[in-house]
Amino acid sequence: MGLTALCPGTFDPVTNGHLDVIGRAAELFGTVIVAVVENPSKTPLFTIEERVGLLEEAVREHRNVRVGSFRGLLVDHARAQGASVIVKGLRAVSDYEYEIQMAQMNQRIGRLDTLFMATSPKWSFLSSSLVREVASYGGDVEGLVPDHVRKRLLDRLAEG
Ligand code: PNS
Repeated sequence: MGLTALCPGTFDPVTNGHLDVIGRAAELFGTVIVAVVENPSKTPLFTIEERVGLLEEAVREHRNVRVGSFRGLLVDHARAQGASVIVKGLRAVSDYEYEIQMAQMNQRIGRLDTLFMATSPKWSFLSSSLVREVASYGGDVEGLVPDHVRKRLLDRLAEG
């Protein structure tokens, strides 16, 4: 039982920072739904199916976490999934401006509240975009993403 929380994001690819927040949310809520956004105006490194698949493998240890994707408004997806709250990680003050705007808009258009979880300091520097950049220049991302994600990242970058 307990509330259902939605953890939305682009997850291109999922990092250990994301997994830290998802795992802690899984301890607090009855169900956690990870919602991968499909944004037609962006060209991610991994397709929506790949991002969902990488996440499914990464959250396998949590019995109350499931992964899905969505298009359109997050508040509509949350309602359709029966989620009563959004959970997002905050790494630093720099995240706050963008996140508070989205949280207030989601409250305004969907009466849906967002709870912010402080990212563990261990991961406060970590982002998917930095992981992609470091890996693309041959840098080592071991320990920053799960091993299966690192492998798929190296394979994808090798494809050119
Ligand atoms: O990983 P990100 O880029 O921080 O995730 C952003 C996300 C997916 C939470 C945001 O882009 C989103 O909610 N997109 C769905 C469209 C939507 O509802 N837009 C209005 C938000 S106020």
